[in-house]
Amino acid sequence: MARLKVAVLISGRGSNLQALIDACAGPDFPATIAKVVSNRPGVEGLARAERAGIPTQIVDHRGHPDRATFDSALHAALAETGAELVCLAGFMRLLTPGFVEAWRDRLINIHPSLLPAFPGLDTHARALAAGVRISGCTVHFVRATMDEGPIIVQGAVPVLADDDANSLAARVLAAEHRCYPLALRLIAEGRVHIVGERAVIDRSAPATDVLINPS
Ligand code: GAR
Repeated sequence: MARLKVAVLISGRGSNLQALIDACAGPDFPATIAKVVSNRPGVEGLARAERAGIPTQIVDHRGHPDRATFDSALHAALAETGAELVCLAGFMRLLTPGFVEAWRDRLINIHPSLLPAFPGLDTHARALAAGVRISGCTVHFVRATMDEGPIIVQGAVPVLADDDANSLAARVLAAEHRCYPLALRLIAEGRVHIVGERAVIDRSAPATDVLINPS
């Protein structure tokens, strides 16, 4: 089985990277991680990659005078691996339109809200302030506008009465760890097609349950 070659970009803890590493360890999983690139040295995600025997590289944004030179260093680090898909997993830098175009439809991101609600930062505090009953996460193709792009997978979780941003973040994170490997599998199996600006999934089983909160 030819596995899809993936590079993962991180900035920190790397728990989503870990979910992808664990998925790729499955004998039948159709993707493999060729490299992990971090814009920050010393982060936990780099240690996770090293433990899994995955090559790592640091492309420190602080060593570059502007976004364009940082992004071209990033591009070179990714291109040399032969990566067919790039996964942003807690990568906290805005990417230039040139970089995003170079990886168009080969660059995906995970975001901790049900997009298009709550793009940007502090999603959980904003979801709580808005009083939504359901939140979640989104895996989507990346476009030049932050947190926009065709949606591949979403996972929904209830917002509970006594939630604070931390407890909601933990519940959403558990959904992230299920959704990101699923999105990667669907793409690697060639089942995701972009039609217009929507991602269409081939042969997806109909979802059987509805999350209603309060139930
Ligand atoms: C995750 O919750 C991810 O959705 C979020 O950062 C966290 C990274 O955690 N990403 C963004 O907010 C991107 N705008 P991790 O490093 O443990 O995967």
